[in-house]
Amino acid sequence: MMRVVSLALGAGVLAASLTVAAQPIGNVEAGREKSQACIACHGAVGASDNVAFPMLAGQHADYLYHALKAYKNGDRQNAIMNGQAAGLSDEDMRDLAAFYAAQTPVLSTPQRGSVNSAE
Ligand code: HEC
Repeated sequence: MMRVVSLALGAGVLAASLTVAAQPIGNVEAGREKSQACIACHGAVGASDNVAFPMLAGQHADYLYHALKAYKNGDRQNAIMNGQAAGLSDEDMRDLAAFYAAQTPVLSTPQRGSVNSAE
């Protein structure tokens, strides 16, 4: 009986944490305003046609957020982006991540099953 109860509790906690993970990581409109400093390189919506700058548009918010955190704390080394991220707060990084994630993706990831599938 206890096992059933704890299983049910565990499932509830898991469902709750999945729900949280699916929520936007930050505020898209606040991120749009904060992205002014990024436009020169990444373009207005994170889709620069200069190959020197990675595409941000449509990338997963969580990926973008962690990339910015890694630049800020030095885990990821890049002279330009270490400087760009240095002055960002946690909220700034969340808002910027939410903004770029909300833009139309210019790169795509193949759907599972479509790669190496038989003709
Ligand atoms: C002077 C040009 C420049 C500016 C301004 C700039 N970036 Fe970057 N950004 C780069 C370059 C170059 C890279 C690739 C760095 C590397 O190889 O790690 C990059 C990488 C990134 C990445 C990692 C992308 C990935 O796919 O891993 C993110 C996220 C990012 N920038 C966000 C921002 C944000 C947000 C701003 C504004 C606050 C900003 N950048 C401003 C040049 C710039």
